[in-house]
Amino acid sequence: MVADPLPQPDSIALDEGRFYIDEAGANAAFRWLRQESPVWWFAPRGFWVVSRRDDVQAMSKQPELWSSAGGITMPSYEGHEGDRIGTQAPSIIMMDPPDHSRHRTLVSRAFTPRRVLDLEGRMREIAAESIESTPIGEPVDFVEHVAVPLPMRVIAEMLGVPDSDLDAFRRWSDAVVVQAGADANRDEGMEAIAQVFGYFAQMLAERRTDPGDDLITALLQAEVEGRALDEGEILIFCMTLLVAGNETTRTLVSQATRMLLERPDQLALLRTGTASLPDAIEELLRLTHPIRYFFRRATRDIEKHGKTIRAGDAVMMLYAAANRDETVWGDDADVLNVTRPVEPHVSLGFGQHFCLGASLARLEARILFEELLARRPSWEAAGPIEYNESSFVNGIERMPVILRP
Ligand code: HEM
Repeated sequence: MVADPLPQPDSIALDEGRFYIDEAGANAAFRWLRQESPVWWFAPRGFWVVSRRDDVQAMSKQPELWSSAGGITMPSYEGHEGDRIGTQAPSIIMMDPPDHSRHRTLVSRAFTPRRVLDLEGRMREIAAESIESTPIGEPVDFVEHVAVPLPMRVIAEMLGVPDSDLDAFRRWSDAVVVQAGADANRDEGMEAIAQVFGYFAQMLAERRTDPGDDLITALLQAEVEGRALDEGEILIFCMTLLVAGNETTRTLVSQATRMLLERPDQLALLRTGTASLPDAIEELLRLTHPIRYFFRRATRDIEKHGKTIRAGDAVMMLYAAANRDETVWGDDADVLNVTRPVEPHVSLGFGQHFCLGASLARLEARILFEELLARRPSWEAAGPIEYNESSFVNGIERMPVILRP
């Protein structure tokens, strides 16, 4: 591997050894990557960065060239439990075909579009409840009051967690989610992971003798050609849902709200029904990219845009840059336009690993914004926003907002 002779953009910096994107300069850095060095060697950490939409899409569709099994987070996180949260069984997200295909077919038997659609009414109730219980006309933390409850409760209910356990479940999930997005292992994260596993293991034992109408029971019963999921596989799948389905949707909702607060003209288009909300959600998914990147490992030597990627090299698919590709979205790709014709973005991945919860996330976001626009159409920013510290999840910790009817 030859180090790229081009200078590293200032806003993609090495911050005490980790890859770090300075949001203020991100758009310029992403443009530089796409135009000057679409396959860029990030020498300080020793991985490649791929930044064009078509390249990221193509990589996601070629698991025989680009493996997930070698790790999908940053190489510097190796040994970081976000990758392989405390069990021997790998998560679906870190499998390659044919294991992945078999596993995906099995879990898809339980995690069906029908199960997601059946939740619509309940989602609306949860969204309305969280909005109605948020104080009016005074600064509140939008993340805590509005963005957190819906995805968290939906997953809890899908899995069959009773109301009496919701508080504990919420505490553990928070710690697990922080751990998954963190750049290092934390004691509280590891403890929470053990607690959640213990909790799911107990639920599983109960559902074996007393089946319910929940996802855990459906996972226990799912079979393909006489083969069912074993206990370790179900446990790691439940954990994956908890991590994959929580902070991502929360981030979409909070970052989308931040963007709309900065662009009252765009918010007005939604409030008046001039723009279609489902299309606007695609535009917001594109620009918020709740996950900034996932990695792949090259399975053989590969030539790409004049660079030689060696077998085993780690390659970052930088969704954040790919989603702003000017060759796809035009010169104003960085600018929010809720009436923009929808073009496929990469926020939910592509190919084999295409987000299993995509329709759930889209439905949650639509319902939440429908309820918010109907019940509290007036939004006002009310103080500095605190962002999370992860380079991987584009999350917001706290965002003071004033909501009014
Ligand atoms: C806005 C919200 C979400 C975003 C941005 C998001 C993003 C992604 C991305 C980019 C991938 C592809 C990973 C890869 O190619 O390596 C993925 C996979 C996955 N997502 Fe999501 N996700 C979201 C919501 C959800 C929800 C709500 C769930 C479930 C409750 C979920 C469950 C999964 C699972 C299980 C996979 C792995 C699929 C596989 O490996 O076959 N996600 N997600």
